[in-house]
Amino acid sequence: MRDLFQPLELKNLELPNSFVMTAAADNLTGEGGKVTDAQIIRLAKLAKRGVGLIITGGIGIHESARSSATSPNFDREDFQYDYERLIRELQKYETKIAAQLHHPGIWTSYYQNKRGREAVAPSIIENDSDYLNKAHLPHIGDYHPATDEEIKEIINYFAEAAHRAQIAGFDAVEIHSAHDSLISQFLSPITNKRSDKWGGSLQNRCRILCQIGKAVRKRVGDDYLVILKLGVEDGLKNGLLFEDGKRIAKYAAISGFDVLEISQGLQGNSFEEMAIRPTNNKQEGFFRDWCKEIKSSLYIKTIMTGGLRTLNQIQNIIKNNETDLIGMCRPFIREPDLIRRWDKGDHRKATCISCNKCTLALRKGMPLACYKDTDLNK
Ligand SMILES: Cc1cc2nc3c(=O)[nH]c(=O)nc-3n(C[C@H](O)[C@H](O)[C@H](O)COP(=O)(O)O)c2cc1C
Repeated sequence: MRDLFQPLELKNLELPNSFVMTAAADNLTGEGGKVTDAQIIRLAKLAKRGVGLIITGGIGIHESARSSATSPNFDREDFQYDYERLIRELQKYETKIAAQLHHPGIWTSYYQNKRGREAVAPSIIENDSDYLNKAHLPHIGDYHPATDEEIKEIINYFAEAAHRAQIAGFDAVEIHSAHDSLISQFLSPITNKRSDKWGGSLQNRCRILCQIGKAVRKRVGDDYLVILKLGVEDGLKNGLLFEDGKRIAKYAAISGFDVLEISQGLQGNSFEEMAIRPTNNKQEGFFRDWCKEIKSSLYIKTIMTGGLRTLNQIQNIIKNNETDLIGMCRPFIREPDLIRRWDKGDHRKATCISCNKCTLALRKGMPLACYKDTDLNK
């Protein structure tokens, strides 16, 4: 069986091991989107403690992708120089780093309206839709269905942001097409009601994703690693179903992406309907079956993410060739040195209990950390 703790070749990169810290928003970005020392210290700590690949929290591709004054952003050249500072620090370690590139679509409306602009989305959604009914997010403000011109601009913004990330020194980029992102909104029949070439049939709903893949590839060249975080099923009734998600994965595999991180698309209101589900012994690896099926049917590398907590189970997953890489998020927030601990022979399960207090704290504007032992109501 492949040793998870040994180096792994991924395209032209050598990762020190097969473990990935998947994207985590951190509430540590400075005013206007500046990279802060606190952010650099957090990521350097993970790199120093041996995670194979770190994926940053979602970074906006353009001013229209901002949902707050402190959203991380990659829309201007000066951010490129800003991120170079982060990269210089991480290059001291063997860990590789990918920038997650993101547009939240409809979920930017609250902030965009405050700045006198409308948000863009695939379509107008009924106000009483289950999808919009999210208690933890600000109300949806004014937005409009993206015009043909705006869609083409968004495709181009993804390509330009990927190029800036490459110039800044990131080893790879990850395009965010999961968890309510604008691309998930295009993929889902709940949020995409268009009847032009960007909506309707699955192929049309997938067009923006495929064009982003091709545009990014053209901009960064053939050798650069491009990952796609793909929501292959929605967490809501009447949403995208896995059978369609599987076909989308197939289109993505021929549109310039090298690796698929398998996750869910639109999210509901409760944690059970989100990619940050609670875990228990039965629910470890909650997206395991999706990843396994995609891995076995497509010639593309995968990252399996979602509730993985036990080394023994992870080793079985690798033994059965269900994925190439293992993604974890909440366990590394609590234990940045988890990989080193396991590698040294302490194979006890990750101590993260998926209580989601890390998420609840972010919602209160607090910095990313494990708050398991903190009373957040005080
Ligand atoms: C606090 C927090 C912030 C997150 N931020 C992002 C993000 O910016 N982009 C993203 O794609 N996923 C984000 N995620 C989801 C994780 O990358 C991962 O898909 C999910 O937590 C499931 O993995 P886990 O069970 O190992 O935590 C976040 C998760 C948490 C807990």
